[in-house]
Amino acid sequence: MAEWRATARAGANIALIKYWGTRDADLNLPLNDSLSMTLSDAVTVTTVAYDEDLAADEVYLDGERVLDDRADRVSRHLDRVRTDYYRVHARVASVNSFPGGTGLASSASGFAALTVASIAAFDEGLPDEHELSARARRGSGSAARSIAGGFVHWHAGATDEDSYAESVFPPDWWDLRDLCVLVSTSPKEISSARGHRIAAVHPFMGARQRQLPGRLTAVQGALAERDLDTLGTLVEAEALEMHGIMLSSTPSCFYLLPATVAVMHAVRRWREDGLGVYLTLDAGPNPHLLCRGRDEARVLEAIEALLPGTRVIANQPGQGVTLVQEHLL
Ligand code: DP6
Repeated sequence: MAEWRATARAGANIALIKYWGTRDADLNLPLNDSLSMTLSDAVTVTTVAYDEDLAADEVYLDGERVLDDRADRVSRHLDRVRTDYYRVHARVASVNSFPGGTGLASSASGFAALTVASIAAFDEGLPDEHELSARARRGSGSAARSIAGGFVHWHAGATDEDSYAESVFPPDWWDLRDLCVLVSTSPKEISSARGHRIAAVHPFMGARQRQLPGRLTAVQGALAERDLDTLGTLVEAEALEMHGIMLSSTPSCFYLLPATVAVMHAVRRWREDGLGVYLTLDAGPNPHLLCRGRDEARVLEAIEALLPGTRVIANQPGQGVTLVQEHLL
């Protein structure tokens, strides 16, 4: 048998306009379009090695064999690929440069890397980015966006094939920084998959959906102009609106910790003191601070003074998914 093995590297992403609520939970079709920045330094590397002698898939995350629902989710994703290629089991090894399952979008980088490695391993060429993105979306919605680099627009679409993401500005468009403050690395209590179903029936969701197209256009305009104050104001309002829906849903998706709220207050103070810094949050307690490249050192100092010793992952706009030659297996 030829060597059926490939390794891919993908960055996580931070949503500027959020995906929170599914129209079709099986296909991960979202209620609305979303927009994100792919992250340079929160990355997943995944090797897929098909082996005809295996009786079942084997999944290793950060060096440990996993046998729980995370492994099932990987196998289900491989099944979707194998249906179109060959039905052979695989060993899958995946390592994150950051703690997984904490609202840090490890599912985004993980399923983007898994999608590309699992197809590339068959050595029959890769489909185009549009198809890769739609395929990654089936594993995890936000993974659709991690296929592409820079600033990325996910079109909600109406069908499986036309719900995909594409880059709207390349990574070198703007030296925007995303500083992710790791106030907690404990796994979240309510998974995103469950949260999306809960959100879809929230009584405020109709009002949110009505204003999102205008907000997305405004965010895209601020990116085009490289206008941090306009972008940051919109992005902060967007994150607070999503967390408003999360907090007030049934059951409540309460992801904020005391340290999260401390950073939220501090960002307002720092802005009053003249520092250009804005905040967003995904489905977890770890704030992402957005600032210009030239202000990164000042923002890092301010975070260290507020929460001494807290790990911060400093990101620039990152590349889309790439194949790499160093395999984990
Ligand atoms: C709050 O893509 O993690 O980060 O499709 O169930 O894997 P699944 O959900 P996921 O949801 C991301 C939610 C979010 C907002 C966003 O990234 O747009």
